[in-house]
Amino acid sequence: MAVVDRTRLAELLDRERTRFRAEHSGSRAVNRQANHLFGRVPMTWMSKWSGGFPLALDTAKGNRITDVDGLTYIDFALGDTGAMAGHSPAPTVRAVISRAATLGGITTMLPTEDAEWVGAELTRRFGLSQWSFTLSATDANRWAIRLARLVTGKPKLLVFSYCYHGSVDETFLVVGPDGSPVSRPGNVAPGVDPTQTTRVVEWNDLAAVEHELAHGDVAVILAEPALTNIGIVLPEPGFHDALRALATKYGALLMIDETHTISAGPGGMTARDALQPDIFVIGKSLGGGIPFGAYGLSEEVARNVHRHTATGVADIRDVGGVGGTLAGNALSLAAVRATLAEVLTDEAFANMIRLASQYTLDVKRILDEVDLPWSVTQLGARAEYRFVRPEPRNGGESAAAADDELDEYLHLFTLNRGILMTPFHNMALMCPDTTAADIDRHAEVFGDAVNDLVGR
Ligand SMILES: Cc1ncc(COP(=O)(O)O)c(C=O)c1O
Repeated sequence: MAVVDRTRLAELLDRERTRFRAEHSGSRAVNRQANHLFGRVPMTWMSKWSGGFPLALDTAKGNRITDVDGLTYIDFALGDTGAMAGHSPAPTVRAVISRAATLGGITTMLPTEDAEWVGAELTRRFGLSQWSFTLSATDANRWAIRLARLVTGKPKLLVFSYCYHGSVDETFLVVGPDGSPVSRPGNVAPGVDPTQTTRVVEWNDLAAVEHELAHGDVAVILAEPALTNIGIVLPEPGFHDALRALATKYGALLMIDETHTISAGPGGMTARDALQPDIFVIGKSLGGGIPFGAYGLSEEVARNVHRHTATGVADIRDVGGVGGTLAGNALSLAAVRATLAEVLTDEAFANMIRLASQYTLDVKRILDEVDLPWSVTQLGARAEYRFVRPEPRNGGESAAAADDELDEYLHLFTLNRGILMTPFHNMALMCPDTTAADIDRHAEVFGDAVNDLVGR
């Protein structure tokens, strides 16, 4: 079995860093000149890209990005799912121009006919019947959590260790080394210690879920249907049925966040695997890049919320803590309507999933050829490799397999050869513009990267 020689890895990493710096003087200059940006980037997490500074964007179309140095990349990062519909898909652009320029009214605090169309389409895809719109998945999660507390009268959340649901304060905790909950390392100055608001267990651990629910204080279980933010960790057979049954047994709501797992198909894992959430959350992809998020409520939860708001106990129309002024704006909804109707279609998903299967097979074959004990996991139109085999079965195991140097090496090796991977992990996402030739090119480059690594 091949092992990674750390001295060799350090040398290779140096070689890739040098090449990156030499070929990206334009991007570097954009970064250097950004004296008025905190951390020299528009948002602090953009400094996470490997190489010391991010590529500066010039143009993007379909699954191609061109930087200010004139270099073009096959984009498998796709804005970490925000651009899952491809960059500037034509139907979305037409709808945006029509709403913004022809009709006018980018944001007015008034409903448009597009809004009901989008609500009905979300019901068709995901099943829940009542929808509200936000500008991000974070906001959708944050506001839906309040509603869950409202209708259950219970204070706490239950989440899975190493989950990520956006910058929602209550979700930043993990199962610590001794099995007790701890604030996630790096959690920026939380106002309230999350161990006070939230219970946390490892993914796929149903006994732990039941143990925590038995305290009787959990309003809502918040889960991605598969973990996707600590590598992809799939649910074991029967996990979701049992989770649903346990939520019902202990009077907690089940809230499913499909922001990333929409890659499983047009209706996400919820439709594919017949999941039965009480609350559903999505964001990032549906607006074709225009900010949009949504939460869906079951008929029963919606009725319950109305009961509480009708008495004036809870205010969801003004300053009760649920709402954003630009949420549900006309531009976002025009973009979502066009993207769902014409871009992220059933046929597009079928093709994207087929390509991701080929990508996954290629990575597996290459790892077997060099005998590296890594694994690759596919979730519909996305796939991700981890530096451990067998695949981790929970967040803790997956976190333990993290390797920053290997991440940087693979990100820079692929980037230097025209392939962009998601900076936060080794994830590749397909969009409607991805082609079989792009998958072949990735296989070639990934093969060269691991061959160099093991010295073949
Ligand atoms: C599962 C999941 N939910 C929510 C979010 C938050 O999305 P946003 O940052 O767009 O609010 C993310 C972001 O990565 C996510 O992966």
